[in-house]
Amino acid sequence: MTHNTLIVSNWKMNFNFIQAKNLVTNLKKIKYNKLKLSNVICPQFLLLPTLNEVLHKSDLILGAQDLHFDINGAYTGDTSIELIKDYNCKYSIVGHSERRALHNESNIMIKKKVKLCLDNFIIPILCVGESIEQRKKNTYKDFILKQLTECIQKIKCPELVIAYEPIWSIGTGIIPKVEDIIEVSELIFSFLKKEKIDKFQILYGGSVNSSNFREINSIDKINGALIGGASLKIDEMKKILTSC
Ligand code: PGA
Repeated sequence: MTHNTLIVSNWKMNFNFIQAKNLVTNLKKIKYNKLKLSNVICPQFLLLPTLNEVLHKSDLILGAQDLHFDINGAYTGDTSIELIKDYNCKYSIVGHSERRALHNESNIMIKKKVKLCLDNFIIPILCVGESIEQRKKNTYKDFILKQLTECIQKIKCPELVIAYEPIWSIGTGIIPKVEDIIEVSELIFSFLKKEKIDKFQILYGGSVNSSNFREINSIDKINGALIGGASLKIDEMKKILTSC
């Protein structure tokens, strides 16, 4: 487990060129502890070429929101790992619950994406997390373990990030109790240790903002956050980045 804090901005399908450039120009001006913190931006694919130029020689790191599991081929509308690498993405989110729900992504497909990333030196940020029904029925631990097993078991993983994102917390302003995040982060930690994966970080994602970030990030097994809505706002990002 690495101890550096990883802040991943998931911009989702937001921003035009001007808005994206404005935000990264302002993000570049924020002074934070660069030895302790990595700041990753995951924009829409079409923004990657421009942001790659704007971020040149800065400490900000680019990431992709998704990628196809094959190297190339007849996949209308998809984006390949080759282009993601061409634009200097160091990370890629895989298996986000919005992809699972809206694009029918299965664990089998996500495992192929994780493998492709690792074979190409892109660090996968694998998202796992339960629905509100699974939480209420108390089946969430089994569900998360199934996701982890089916997405990464027996893969040779030099480095990996897992984001625990309860679906019911994404975009809702509702955050699990600290003890609930602790419980799942420990579950993920033990799974990764059992799989003999040494280099990993566990993030929390779901309604993270400048008011709750510190408490979440102080959890022993959590090393940062995957941030959606708040990552679009410079004031929020400034508070989050300077609180590490
Ligand atoms: P949110 O999104 O911060 O807006 O809840 C997080 C995510 O979906 O990664």
